[in-house]
Amino acid sequence: MKTDQGNTQNRLNGVKKVKTYFIVTYGCQMNEHDSEVMSALLEGLGFSPAEELEKADLIIINTCAVRKKPEDKVASLLGKLAPLKNINKDLIIAVTGCMSQQREMAVHLKERFPFVDLITGTHALPRLPSHITRIMEIKQRKTIVDIEEDYAKREGLPVKHSSFFKAWLPVNYGCNNFCSYCIVPYVRGKERSRKMDHIIEEAKILAEKGYMEITLLGQNVNSYGHDLPGKPTFAALLKEMDQINGLARIRFMTSHPKDLSSKLIETVARGEKICEHFHLPVQSGSDRILKLMKRQYSREKYSSLVREIRKAIPNVSVTTDLIVGFPVEMEDDFHETLSLLEEIRFDNAFSFLYSPRKNTKAALLKEEISHQDKEKRLGKLNNLQHRISKEVNETLVGKTVEVLIEGTSKNNPDMKTGRTRTNKLVHFPASGELTGLLVRVVIKEARTWDLIGEVE
Ligand code: SAH
Ligand code: SF4
Ligand code: F3S
Repeated sequence: MKTDQGNTQNRLNGVKKVKTYFIVTYGCQMNEHDSEVMSALLEGLGFSPAEELEKADLIIINTCAVRKKPEDKVASLLGKLAPLKNINKDLIIAVTGCMSQQREMAVHLKERFPFVDLITGTHALPRLPSHITRIMEIKQRKTIVDIEEDYAKREGLPVKHSSFFKAWLPVNYGCNNFCSYCIVPYVRGKERSRKMDHIIEEAKILAEKGYMEITLLGQNVNSYGHDLPGKPTFAALLKEMDQINGLARIRFMTSHPKDLSSKLIETVARGEKICEHFHLPVQSGSDRILKLMKRQYSREKYSSLVREIRKAIPNVSVTTDLIVGFPVEMEDDFHETLSLLEEIRFDNAFSFLYSPRKNTKAALLKEEISHQDKEKRLGKLNNLQHRISKEVNETLVGKTVEVLIEGTSKNNPDMKTGRTRTNKLVHFPASGELTGLLVRVVIKEARTWDLIGEVE
């Protein structure tokens, strides 16, 4: 394991201070996983984790470009980092990930924040160690920019998992869908699946190390395998995963409705470890908007898919993503989304204000709605969904659920927090070190975002 190298260096260096790193991660689980890979690569170079950002010798900001908000956060954080360079002359600052993968953005960041030493995109992950080594060797530093697309060498990189009981496991990278509003295909590149053997092997190693839960990751896990010899399906992969001894739970995200097969639903229904939860982003309830979004399914197709899932898997939870204020979303279209929420009754929904992304098709559409109206719609939609989430959660009161304990509750040291197989948060009174254990909990109270219970 490469981290041993770091420890040895630790001991040998003695007087010389060991270099430390700190990674700030924005965006989705895939980005979090990339940060775990970067941590392992840096520890392979002899770095160790810093307790605080201000004390680190290397600061990496792993960015997200999906909406304007996370991009703004990066700019504001970078603004605050400049003075740190005056305190520590050797401090290295790097910007990585989806935002800086965009050429125009990389150039902009370089000009606006000239003190940044390294700007890379998502493709440069395997080259992080060589860039950092080079920066440490040169006296007169200039910003290095590496946003070359490179589809090789992603396999076999080390990972430093941030948890000891649950792990992310990517199954495919990139996306070929080009939904009209979305930047992801541009910054993550074309879709490529990992070999089934590699995924299973990694999962087995995690299980042997005592990991309880694995979440299979991809922008669109349902299209897994179409680019591999023999075209293995995601359902086939899940079936194999279910056979791995030691694991308690297998999750997957995100599912694209257009590629979700009946075979997959059947596999989840029959699976022992595969959790009864689908995160199935719908984005809008209006057929007109779905078409303009290039989602490739109709409202009816989506509803019937959810009906099929619910029929096959009792107690399944279904969550979704919604975009409010797509440039030409009329009041009628918005009402279609509200009526879809009433019809489907999702367990939970993540709703976002539409944010125009440069170079996407939707960015060319004329904005027909004011920001104020968009906010109003978002408020209405959230109110409706909050009521539904609470009502759905109330049906669990009095029932016993299996909970994987994730830690002590943030707000109350006497409570533990965990998740059900359906991915609902549960808080319950308990003491001691129980993280990573499974318990059975009786639900006593339902709230919008979580449940309160007692150990059975
Ligand atoms: N691959 C996943 C989603 C990745 S992005 C999928 O296809 O389902 C996560 C969510 O961000 C999307 O589901 C969408 O709801 C939202 N999103 C993406 N682009 C957006 C934009 N330009 N403005 C607002 N929300 C956006
Ligand atoms: Fe974006 Fe659509 Fe791909 Fe999801 S499926 S990442 S929303 S382009
Ligand atoms: Fe994820 Fe944001 Fe990139 S959502 S894929 S980190 S643009």
